[in-house]
Amino acid sequence: MPSFHPTRRAVLAGLGATALSARAGFADSAPIPLTAQRVLAQIAPKGYPQTEVWSYDGQLPGPQLRLAQSTRLRRRFVNKLDVPTSVHWHGIRIANAMDGVAGLTQEAVAPGASFDYDFLVPDAGTYWYHAHTHSMEQVARGLSGALIVEERDAPDVDRDEVLMLDDWRLDPETAQIAPDFSHPMDLSHGGRFGNLIGTNGRYNLSLTAKRHERLRLRLINAANARTFVLRLAGLSGWQVALDGMPQPTPEPIAQNIVLAPAQRIDLIVDVTAAGDEAAIDRLGNDAQWYRQVGVQITGAASRARRAVPAALPPNPRMELPDLAQARPLEMKIEGGAMGGMPMSQMRSLMQSGKFWTLGGQAGPVDPPFARLSLGEPVRLRMVNDTAFPHAMHLHGMHFREVLEGERLGPMRDTLLTEAGARHEIAFTADNPGKWLLHCHMLAHAAAGMTAWIEVS
Ligand code: C2O
Ligand code: CU
Repeated sequence: MPSFHPTRRAVLAGLGATALSARAGFADSAPIPLTAQRVLAQIAPKGYPQTEVWSYDGQLPGPQLRLAQSTRLRRRFVNKLDVPTSVHWHGIRIANAMDGVAGLTQEAVAPGASFDYDFLVPDAGTYWYHAHTHSMEQVARGLSGALIVEERDAPDVDRDEVLMLDDWRLDPETAQIAPDFSHPMDLSHGGRFGNLIGTNGRYNLSLTAKRHERLRLRLINAANARTFVLRLAGLSGWQVALDGMPQPTPEPIAQNIVLAPAQRIDLIVDVTAAGDEAAIDRLGNDAQWYRQVGVQITGAASRARRAVPAALPPNPRMELPDLAQARPLEMKIEGGAMGGMPMSQMRSLMQSGKFWTLGGQAGPVDPPFARLSLGEPVRLRMVNDTAFPHAMHLHGMHFREVLEGERLGPMRDTLLTEAGARHEIAFTADNPGKWLLHCHMLAHAAAGMTAWIEVS
């Protein structure tokens, strides 16, 4: 794989045209397969054995699916694993039947079977896809990839680079994925962290760029539990989108970029490095900074530094939800280690293999947490009464945080809530169907932090 992907213009000129999976005029040809299969990948540093991972199309991460806004994504998903699985298209607002949640929106795809995913992508931006059947294990084993929907008027950048940040828990001797997927410590504490951190399926990704080049960086956190705190060196610029959704105006990049599991951020950066290396660095638990992605500087581009980029074009349905009319809901997040849940309640939870509750229930359970009428505005207060952070993700619709003075924050699909924090989100229930609302620390989701709402 080349270290950089061609710009949209180059793609349209015919280079890498296979990356365009949905184009008008081809709607009735057989869908291109997307195959879940085992493969060996060199995740660990050189000298270590290859790691057997579960992949899409034999790639780690899965192939980058790129298509134009308002076109259809059509893929014949083929399951060549020996366990059932399904594909969820994270953050893209699509028809419910295509959402890929086994047991809620479709049956899991049996080994040897296939399922045709076919949906319109209304929104441009940075999304991703991942397994949504036993996702704690299946995502940890490698089943994820980037889904990029291109704006009709793409920003003027020299390169468009997707960076999927991830971590893997490997046996230090064999470099194989540790098969401990029901560890009570992971389930009841911060989730399943890896011991090897990397980008785009490699532990030490290095790119090349020229000084003065302008890059669009699409950062995706595909990790099971790890929140990445990042800073840039020799790169400076603007944040232009969060969780796929364009911001009304580009904002200077914060000193530290916080990216919770499943969140995305789009940056437009200019290469300003004075030496021969730029980088994205990651804050470790020990308060030290580590190199996440190195960027080797290979000369200077002819164009000097450019003006502030324009905002990305807005997506449809970005109107603010009507707070005055909104139905108030409250969801308590409870349980886990050191969370203050009464011991008797904790014990009975644990008897069912769970450690957490959302809205008083260890899910998924029937009936849904809420039934909403189509078009209804909602404000949902989320009360984190636990000792851990959680990355709360709503399927099918983006929301905005209700900030001080009833001001509404940017559109997101995943919200990081710190231990003890309270947040309120608002959205218009404008997408009919059964939609999950769960923690994207996937061990937590497996241990009870999975609820759903129904919009009809
Ligand atoms: Cu990233 Cu329920 O999904
Ligand atoms: Cu959680």
